[in-house]
Amino acid sequence: MTATNHAESAAAAWTRKHLLGLEELSAEEITAILDTAESFAEVSTRSRKKVPALQGRIVFNLFFENSTRTRTSFSLAAKRLSADTQDFTASASSLSKGESFIDTARNIEAMGADIMVIRHPTPGTPHLLAQHVDCAIINAGDGAHEHPTQALLDLMTIRRARGRIEGLTVCLLGDIAHSRVARSNIHALKKLGAHVILCGPPTLVPRGWERFGCEVVHQLDEVLPRCDVMNVLRIQFERQQRGLFPSVSEYSQFYMMTQDRIRLGKPDLLLLAPGPINRGVELTPEVADGPNSAILDQVANGLAIRMAVLYLLSGRIDAGSRHRD
Ligand code: CP
Repeated sequence: MTATNHAESAAAAWTRKHLLGLEELSAEEITAILDTAESFAEVSTRSRKKVPALQGRIVFNLFFENSTRTRTSFSLAAKRLSADTQDFTASASSLSKGESFIDTARNIEAMGADIMVIRHPTPGTPHLLAQHVDCAIINAGDGAHEHPTQALLDLMTIRRARGRIEGLTVCLLGDIAHSRVARSNIHALKKLGAHVILCGPPTLVPRGWERFGCEVVHQLDEVLPRCDVMNVLRIQFERQQRGLFPSVSEYSQFYMMTQDRIRLGKPDLLLLAPGPINRGVELTPEVADGPNSAILDQVANGLAIRMAVLYLLSGRIDAGSRHRD
């Protein structure tokens, strides 16, 4: 079966209209996205990287928060699938004149949008949008709730490097409490059979997170030798209501990934970071650019994941009553 045929059969079996989060997806659905992304990664190696799958479709990027990776890779993914794309910039829109969020979305839909990709600081905004417009909605990050395509690209990077997810020990390090990336990773990794460790200071990794079936640890140096993957999360200063650790330098002393800490881990420890990274806070430059780092592989895989998600959802646009959600 060719890569394109594989994507076509995955699309034929796909039943969801929206991608709002990974909590509601099954292991089979997550695997179908990862497999479809592999097909599109193969397309990206061809001399002609564009396929006509979304020709005639319109994809709107609605970003109410800043973004480098997610916004540009969704835009490029849609272009590679031959869709028309349009970026919406909230700060330059009529929202500043008092137009409501829902009215804004309905006006964009009236221009023929088929898919809306939305990032918003308020958790649940993509879900609200899905109730008020008929287009397919993709959550590109809603507050501290979920960031499904980031977790999918993390899993794709792990699976490409290790050949599997099941049975691996994956540590999510740092600011778990404010991280949508952590939530989406936990849902997906647990469903695919990984052991998930959450590590950070008690104020950023409260005990309650054990309810997700994760191990909660506060001493990084104790847990490092057991890990196959270390996913280093950014300190979300913008989402913290108050200082949750004494100082940045104290945080770095206990939780920054350094060369010494890399040596404490397995030789093939896979180091991920969703970005943006703060060199010298969460990881040193040598570690970020070192042989264990797959940070730029994550970015490359993100394009394939976003092509896969756009492709799978676009197959449901004309399906009407067959929509499952
Ligand atoms: N990882 C991630 O979501 O990066 P951006 O904020 O740059 O999109």
